[in-house]
Amino acid sequence: MYILGIESSCDETAAAVMENDSRLLSNIVNTQIDIHRKYGGVVPELASRKHLEDIYPVVDAAIQEAGITLDQIDTIAVTQGPGLIGSLLVGLSFAKAISLVKKIPYVGVDHMAGHLISVFLGHKKPEFPYIALVASGGHSSIFHVSSPSAYSLLGRTRDDAAGEAFDKVAKIIGLGYPGGPAIGALSKKGNPEAVKFPRSWLEPGSPDFSFSGIKTSVANYVKQNKVLSDQEARQPVDQESLIADICASFQEAVVDVLVEKTLTCALQKNIKTVVLSGGVSANIRLRQVMEERGHQKGLEVFMPPLEFCTDNAAMIALAGYYQRDKASLTYDMDVYSRISAQ
Ligand code: KG4
Ligand code: ZN
Repeated sequence: MYILGIESSCDETAAAVMENDSRLLSNIVNTQIDIHRKYGGVVPELASRKHLEDIYPVVDAAIQEAGITLDQIDTIAVTQGPGLIGSLLVGLSFAKAISLVKKIPYVGVDHMAGHLISVFLGHKKPEFPYIALVASGGHSSIFHVSSPSAYSLLGRTRDDAAGEAFDKVAKIIGLGYPGGPAIGALSKKGNPEAVKFPRSWLEPGSPDFSFSGIKTSVANYVKQNKVLSDQEARQPVDQESLIADICASFQEAVVDVLVEKTLTCALQKNIKTVVLSGGVSANIRLRQVMEERGHQKGLEVFMPPLEFCTDNAAMIALAGYYQRDKASLTYDMDVYSRISAQ
């Protein structure tokens, strides 16, 4: 069977076609980064408008690249939430329109279910159950996953998400949006021990995260050490090594907390498999440290190929495949903005 996946929860308009759960026939991702970059973050209204412009060409390209016609699609899987309401509505309304005209059943998929299953788009596939970290621009959560559609939330961030911290710190040191890839790249040239930024462990054994403190620490450090020649214009001084040291030290602190808390959850639940997902799991240092420390503790660590870490519709199509019995031809479905803890 053919599944058409549609994703528009934030600033990527994406569509993909999967044949069952094994063959990805197309995967189109149209990112809006260039539009939002000058504002230093995603502007919801601009995002919705750009989705409206892109949704048809992106879905059309996915169908064409798959080498099939719309009439051959058996089920449409569309992100229902969490995310930006206006952005989600574009994807869902488009899915409903195709469904209505072509009489193809559609199913609303939780964006988290997509990230949690994205690891199966790679070659190395884990077995259930597993403990999964979803670290992205909007979420830093740890889940217990017992099947493609059954998962429960163990811990979450109490303030900023990990990706949000990367993006905010990048803004503080003048690296632009999105910050994750820029900080990841610069960190390779820096010393992770240079600045001892605080790790927020919260109460002993807590599976929750907090990343707003480290952002403030970086801001204070930058001010005290006159890292920016012009604080207002966020112009970095001509000292790439200093910026690289700040990046590497910040990244190390975030990675340390993400890894330790995820591995502790696995050990506490006596689960031997750990999965990484979400945009931040594209971070090379996070991938490396999770694998190393997981291995030391006798755990097996799995992660999606880089292209499936950030938002995409292949993961939505795959999650939709496993929920295909919920697909319907009724049109009262609404979107939701916040995470639904199952
Ligand atoms: O999963 P995603 O595409 O969107 C959400 O669902 O939020 O994640 C985007 C986030 C951004 O905050 C971005 O800075 C971060 O993932 N990110 C990274 C890297 N690549 C993307 N963070 C750290 N290192 C990276 N290499
Ligand atoms: Zn995401």
